[in-house]
Amino acid sequence: MKFLPISFLILALATATALAYDPSPLQDICVATNDLESGVFVNGKFCKDPKQATADDFVFMGLRNPGNTSNPLGSKVTQAFVQQFPGLNTLGISMVRVDFAPGGLNPPHFHPRGTEVQIVVEGTLLVGFVTSNQLNNTLFTKVLYKGDVFVFPIGLIHFQLNIGNTYALSISSFSSQNPGLITIANAVFGAKPPISADVLTKAFQLDKKVVEYLEAQSWYDNN
Ligand code: GLV
Ligand code: MN
Repeated sequence: MKFLPISFLILALATATALAYDPSPLQDICVATNDLESGVFVNGKFCKDPKQATADDFVFMGLRNPGNTSNPLGSKVTQAFVQQFPGLNTLGISMVRVDFAPGGLNPPHFHPRGTEVQIVVEGTLLVGFVTSNQLNNTLFTKVLYKGDVFVFPIGLIHFQLNIGNTYALSISSFSSQNPGLITIANAVFGAKPPISADVLTKAFQLDKKVVEYLEAQSWYDNN
C-alpha cells in the first residue's frame, strides 16, 4: 500500500519521458526508407536493410549552399530533418541552417517535439524565447555574436532577428529527428480554412476589420 503511489509516480515519469522525446535507438543504424516491402517499422520511418546501407546514407550536402533570403522575411531556413536526411532515422537529432539578410527575421515559432541549440556562424542576432503562462510569459532575450550559442527549450515560442548591417548565418541542432515547426502568424492568421474572425477578434482583442485584413494576407513560410 505504502509503495503503490511511488511506483505510480515512477511509471508516470517514465511515460512522460517516453512521450516527450524521440525513443533511444535499438539498433546501430536505421536508414529511413519509403520502400515498405523491404522495410521494418520502428516508431519513425521504415529502416533500410542495414546490409544495404552505404556511407552516402550518412552524409547530407543540402546545407552547403546559402538559402535565398529574397523574400518578405529576409531569412531562409534550410532543414536537415529525417525527411531530407534519412540517415538520422531513430537517432533523435537533426539540424538546420538559417541565412539572414540584414534586418532578416526568423519569425516567432516553436518546435513541438524538440529543443533547439543554435550557434551564430556569421553576424549578430537578437534572439529570444517566451516561457509558458505558468511562468508568466517571461521573455528571455539576448544579442548573440559570432561563435555564441543559445538554447531554445522544447515547445517554447522563439525568434531570431539579424540586427547587424551584414548577412548573418546560424546553424541549429534539435533533440529530435523531426522537431516539427509551427510559425505563429501562419498558424493563427493563415489557417486553412480560416479560423472564424469572431474567435480571433476576441482572442487578440482587435477590431474585426483588422482580423479580416490579417486573415486575407498570404503568410510566407521561410522553410
Ligand atoms: C530556428 O529557430 C529554426 O528553427 O529555424
Ligand atoms: Mn526554431
